Amino acid sequence: MSDHDHAAPDLTHMFTEEFWDERYSSSQRVWSGNPNARLVEEVGPLTPGTALDVGCGEGADVVWLAGHGWTVTGVDVSGVALERAAQHAAEAGVAERTSWQRADVFARDPLPTGFDLVTASYVHVPPDLFDDVYRHVAASVAPGGSLVVLAHHPDDVHTGLRNSELCHLLFTPEAVHAVLDPAEWEVVSSRVVSREHVHEGTSHQVSDTVVRARRRS
Ligand SMILES: C[S@@+](CC[C@H](N)C(=O)[O-])C[C@H]1O[C@@H](n2cnc3c(N)ncnc32)[C@H](O)[C@@H]1O
Repeated sequence: MSDHDHAAPDLTHMFTEEFWDERYSSSQRVWSGNPNARLVEEVGPLTPGTALDVGCGEGADVVWLAGHGWTVTGVDVSGVALERAAQHAAEAGVAERTSWQRADVFARDPLPTGFDLVTASYVHVPPDLFDDVYRHVAASVAPGGSLVVLAHHPDDVHTGLRNSELCHLLFTPEAVHAVLDPAEWEVVSSRVVSREHVHEGTSHQVSDTVVRARRRS
């Protein structure tokens, strides 16, 4: 997924339920419907259990996880996204392995805890909120469980694909490490991965931040 809307954003409005409901309502499908490839790679070695996907959007990752044996809760600020995600789960025959919760993680709305896996894919957070939001998300991982974070890497600034007004929200693997206390977390995987992204018929190389960490038991 990418942010191709280059209009100057209103950052105070940008992360609200209203903004995202409007965005999801404006199109029948905003994202591809495919699970994130890096998520599939990172989760592959793990034994299925319970999972929480924060900022789940239209639910492609939730549906993929549920189809691979996980019992998954999807969280998003947008009720429109969650309704659509639940519909996709039903169509994929995995509704009974999924549940949904509306929460604003930037406002630190309470999240359920005790999950074997917590994922957050392309949830870009203003720098002044970053540490608090990602600590809040990481707190939902059970001891012995895993956290997987994907993001657009700051190198993508040079692709011209990202909204230049929002480039300061892109983040590195190191930004994620910095919120994880090494006494409590072991970083298992930390990568910047390049992939091809075709936009309006033109191929671009984009870079993803990929971090998997295990919470010590
Ligand atoms: C770029 S989309 C990524 C969606 C999905 N994770 C994926 O990879 O396709 C970011 C998602 O974060 C959600 N989001 C934005 N602000 C949020 C907030 N304050 N609390 C919870 N979710 C939020 C949006 O509604 C959107 O679905």
